[in-house]
Parts: sequence; C-alpha cells; structure tokens
Amino acid sequence: MISTAYLNGQFLPLSEARISPMDRGFLLADGIYEMIPVYAGRPFRWPSQLARLKRSMAAIDLKQPMHDDELLNLIKQLTERAYKTDLLIYLQITRGTEPSRNHYYQADTQPTVFAYTTDLPSYTLPLKVITTPDMRWQRCDIKSISLLPNALARHQAYLQGATEALLVRDGYVNEGSSSNIFIVKQEMIITPAKSPAILAGLSRELVLELAQIHQLPYQERPITESELYTADEVWITSVGRKVQPITAVNGKLIKQGNIGPIWQQMMKLYDKAIEDHRHGRK
Ligand SMILES: Cc1ncc(COP(=O)(O)O)c(C=O)c1O
Repeated sequence: MISTAYLNGQFLPLSEARISPMDRGFLLADGIYEMIPVYAGRPFRWPSQLARLKRSMAAIDLKQPMHDDELLNLIKQLTERAYKTDLLIYLQITRGTEPSRNHYYQADTQPTVFAYTTDLPSYTLPLKVITTPDMRWQRCDIKSISLLPNALARHQAYLQGATEALLVRDGYVNEGSSSNIFIVKQEMIITPAKSPAILAGLSRELVLELAQIHQLPYQERPITESELYTADEVWITSVGRKVQPITAVNGKLIKQGNIGPIWQQMMKLYDKAIEDHRHGRK
C-alpha cells in the first residue's frame, strides 16, 4: 500500500519523512507509541486507545502535543490519504529534539509526532511460539518505544520459524514480545491480570469484555510456563493479530496441534465486534 506519513504538522510520503539525529526518541528511546487499528475508516475502540496513550504519556512526563479531537482528525486524514478503509496506523510521540544529548530534559521541548499507515497483517496456521526469558524493565505497562528486549526475543522466534516469543519471568509467562497471552483449561479462559509486568492490550481487553458479555468463564491470574504444555488452548492477542491460536510451544504440540473450540467461538465474537463497529453499532 502507498504509505502516507505525518510528521510534526505535515503530511508527506513516508520515504521523505526526516527527523533530527538529536531527537530524544532516536538517541534515548525517549517516547511512546500506539498501533491503531482502523476499520470502515474509523479507529476501533478509540476511547480505550486514547486512554492508554494518555497513560503512557503521563507515566513518562510527556505533555500531550495535540488535543484529543486533533488526534482523531489526524487518524481520519491519514486514513483518507491511504485510500483504504481498513488499515493500521503507527503513531509515535517522542520528547523531541534538543541541541545537546542529555539524560535530563527541558520542560519546553516540543514533542515529535510521527505517524504512518500500514496494512493489517494476515497470517496462516499453524502458529508456533517459543519461550524466552523476559529481560524487560519493570514498567512494561507503558507503551514505550524502547523495545530492544522485545525485538531480540522476537528475532529468536523468527530464527526458529515461530510467530512469537513468550516472555517468562520467575517461571511465569507474562505476555508475548508484542502480544498478550491467554490459555484455556477446562473451558476456563485464563490470562495474567493487568500489572506493571504486562502491557494492557486493547485486544486483551476486548476478549475479556466479550467473555463477560457472553458468559464464558474467565480468570485473571498468573500462568506458569509449564501450564502452557497442559493447556487445552493457547492464544495470543494483539490488535493486528486479533486472537491467534497457538498450536505448538517450543516444538511441543498443544492438544495434538488441534485448534480449540473456545478459540473458534472467541474469534467469531471478535469479528462480530469489528462488524458492529463497521455498522456503527458500537
Ligand atoms: C508487549 C506487548 N504486549 C501486548 C500487546 C498487545 O496490545 P494490543 O492488543 O493493544 O495490540 C502489544 C502490542 O503491541 C505489546 O507490544
């Protein structure tokens, strides 16, 4: 797809977007981001997304560079320029450019706002994952652009032909490098509770909301690595992946590699939520 970018007030082709090497995002990973799914030309679950963006900005003492309605208008304009109704928008806000590199920052530095449009991903089954130690910091609830441990973990998965790396700390699976983790055991849907150890995924939130509405039993509690192997179903969620069923962990098949019925049910509900959004019902 033709990717249009937005940088500090200007729309331009992605290939022409330039930032200063003195941008604190570039030098220090001093910034946050969002991945915004758009269906039927409108952002899906925008109130939750905006709330998370604001939480991330507040957590790193970054002032909101645009009003809420300007942000929404930015999404609308990028979508129109992409000539597509279904897409993903990457939005990144960094603390901005300063004349010299310092760890401390100035209160009046103008944040850098960058966004561009990209396609929604597609995937083919079966999906395998690996587990790897969670090397991240203690504020994984902030959607920080500092993603080196996530990227290194995901690269390990890539080298092993797997779709995702699940991050394990003290024997517990926190989440994936860019997804949340769910298991199903005896029809109980289980995912770790929100905490500084995980990112509160929008798709995670939707899955739990759908479980509640449709009276599918669920629990928010820690998941041990060994529970993955005995689970009836393992899923990962993200706005791009939606709900993906995992058929093997570290080469070991989950339920003989069969995709489970609760996933099928949840995926239908998830797609129905998108359809409702398309038709303005939600
Ligand atoms: C570490 C991490 N956890 C979970 C998620 C899933 O979040 P969402 O459902 O909002 O895409 C992401 C998404 O990028 C992520 O990076």
